[in-house]
Amino acid sequence: MKNIVLYKSRYGNTKQYATWMAEALQWELRDFSDFRKSEIGDYEGIIFATGVYMGKMNALAKALQWFENKPIVIVACGGNNNDPDEIEVIRKRNFTESQLAFHRFFYVPGGVDFSKVKGPFRLMLGVFRKVMERKNNRTADEDAILEGFTNPTNFVDRKYIEPILEAVRNASSGEGKV
Ligand SMILES: Cc1cc2nc3c(=O)[nH]c(=O)nc-3n(C[C@H](O)[C@H](O)[C@H](O)COP(=O)(O)O)c2cc1C
Repeated sequence: MKNIVLYKSRYGNTKQYATWMAEALQWELRDFSDFRKSEIGDYEGIIFATGVYMGKMNALAKALQWFENKPIVIVACGGNNNDPDEIEVIRKRNFTESQLAFHRFFYVPGGVDFSKVKGPFRLMLGVFRKVMERKNNRTADEDAILEGFTNPTNFVDRKYIEPILEAVRNASSGEGKV
């Protein structure tokens, strides 16, 4: 049986993590867009990694439907630097409790560079920026977001895949489900 790391990545951070995981585990690596539902039966281990935009994990609805009978490892790559409260928001917003009990969920910190944003997101961010700049009593979070327009952040680090690799290796040595 084969194993695969699938990813969806707009700005490259999720793809970087997916590449590191595939290299470390010696698993196949593929963009989720090039994967077919009919192939699921060919694979034993599956990791699905995807970016978080406006609170939602990209293509997660499709992945949860495709893998409803097959437990997989699901990795979210977001803009926060491993903040437990923010990670909890992502979990709650994207999964039911039973989905979280069935699959394994991990978070890895990406980064934000608004200058790379194109299309409808760019328009939305432009409006958001104007509103924020005019706002009088901005919160610390809002200030941090505004900061992102001029100072891009990048928290991507290979060390964040270690807990994922450990879980996958323990599962394949029979110590638990992936
Ligand atoms: C338009 C936009 C919206 C975003 N919304 C969120 C969000 O709601 N929560 C979060 O944690 N990160 C958010 N981010 C940060 C992305 O998750 C981060 O850039 C991540 O690295 C994206 O993965 P990618 O590089 O593979 O596309 C957002 C980024 C952009 C550009």
